[in-house]
Amino acid sequence: MRFWGNVTVAATNAAVETGYDMKPELTGREIDSFYHLSDAPVEHRSCRGISCFAGKILNPEGWQQALSQWPPVYCLGKCYASPATTEIIEQPRIEIHCPEGIVLDGVADQSKLSVQDYGYAALRKALRNPAEAVVAEIEASQLRGRGGAGFPAGKKWRAVFNEPGATKYVVANADEGDHGSYIDRFIMERTPHRLIESLALAGYAVGASKGYIYLRKEYPVAEVAVRKALLEAEEAGWLGADIYGSSFSFEIEVVIGQGSYVCGEETSLLNSIEHRRPEVRSRPPFPTQSGLFGAPTLVNNVETLASVPWIVLNGGEAYAEKGFSTSRGTKAISLNSLFNQPGLYEIEFGMPLRTILEVLGGGLKTGDFKAVIVGGPLTGLVHPREFGTLFGFDEMHAIGASIGHGGIVAFDQHTRMDEFLAHVFEFGAIESCGKCTPCRLGSRRAQVLFANRAEGGCLSAQEESELKEILDAIRRTSLCGHGTGLAAVAASVFEKFGEEF
Ligand SMILES: Cc1cc2nc3c(=O)[nH]c(=O)nc-3n(C[C@H](O)[C@H](O)[C@H](O)COP(=O)(O)O)c2cc1C
Ligand code: SF4
Repeated sequence: MRFWGNVTVAATNAAVETGYDMKPELTGREIDSFYHLSDAPVEHRSCRGISCFAGKILNPEGWQQALSQWPPVYCLGKCYASPATTEIIEQPRIEIHCPEGIVLDGVADQSKLSVQDYGYAALRKALRNPAEAVVAEIEASQLRGRGGAGFPAGKKWRAVFNEPGATKYVVANADEGDHGSYIDRFIMERTPHRLIESLALAGYAVGASKGYIYLRKEYPVAEVAVRKALLEAEEAGWLGADIYGSSFSFEIEVVIGQGSYVCGEETSLLNSIEHRRPEVRSRPPFPTQSGLFGAPTLVNNVETLASVPWIVLNGGEAYAEKGFSTSRGTKAISLNSLFNQPGLYEIEFGMPLRTILEVLGGGLKTGDFKAVIVGGPLTGLVHPREFGTLFGFDEMHAIGASIGHGGIVAFDQHTRMDEFLAHVFEFGAIESCGKCTPCRLGSRRAQVLFANRAEGGCLSAQEESELKEILDAIRRTSLCGHGTGLAAVAASVFEKFGEEF
């Protein structure tokens, strides 16, 4: 199906109701051209993501193949086997390292795959209580968003709940673009009903009757699992009109992304669902006020949503008892192929990073750590001297790093930092939405300078000061975390690995 072709009647009606101008500004072809994979198949692809860059020593030919392919695919969610290709069918180790699994419950053994085994107990419970009770439990849980920013979920849910109007939306961000993360992928492949139930709970709580799952094209197995589960849920009466004898009606539409990293940014994602050019929107207004088709919209990451049924069943306070400091509950983390024990692990917040890397991950196959990144390609590096840091949002932030989505990519001593920066900035340039000039043009120029440096050239004094100006402009003027993240990763390399420059 062409991307342009699926504007739904319901969406159009909603836009008319809310007085929102959904006339596309550009033609379908012009919008399609934004995406890397709008026409390209995802079969026979090699991944060019940062965990594949980090693991290239394990398969240099595979990495060369990735570099030769166009358009590039940035992250196939197979970082446990990187450098990855679409042909890899190997599955990761999946373990729960906390007293009770919440988001990975049923993921390893697939014991909750069918609608009968899953059961929809949380939705059943919620529908017997007022909608606001669900919002209150999410607030009490102190759950923070797992998609990257760590924003308190309860605040967002309350904001959408408080908005007047009959038309509201809930959106699951299943774009999982952060290289190194394959958490949402396995939640969706192996417990798709948890995502469906979570979206229905969110819809009930905030007063939305329609939900969207924005799912990346690079995850075809997850798409099949989610679509199958949607049919089962409809047949079983967990979606549709008057669910479980209540007056609550809810439907879910799946929208498949087309290979753009920036579409994981929530406002770009909303533009993409609306079939507009998926550039990042200026805020305010925030999506909670004016989001999809101009209506109040709740956007949450898949893993954030996956905690919701447990919170509804056990209470927000019970959830808040887990974890530590300002990071409550549990977190799934994924480790890349350089680890001796790559895989998907659920832990409580507060575990020292060193325990994650050396006990769960078992250290590296190829020698000592040089650095790790935890929160995707656009966050600061963690130096081995910082491995004693406790795993928490604020604690990671304090060392110039981030929890991000929890995909941990380790780099060994073979990694050269100028090559790393050239790689990250190439990714940044290819994936920039183009709205801010320093991000659009500066990232490309910085990539060229880093690449020249990596190829043995020395930067002239003029080029060095040009680079400094570019990074400063990107840091100061970027509208979203894509640009600020590029500046942050460069700053962390200069600060922590300055001796290499
Ligand atoms: C460039 C960029 C890419 C992003 N990609 C993703 C993504 O792939 N998945 C995701 O859940 N959030 C992503 N985010 C974060 C979203 O904008 C948003 O904060 C998140 O979906 C909100 O959900 P949460 O509060 O549950 O984390 C991205 C942000 C930026 C700036
Ligand atoms: S920082 Fe980059 S990706 Fe973000 S809005 Fe600006 S141009 Fe787009």
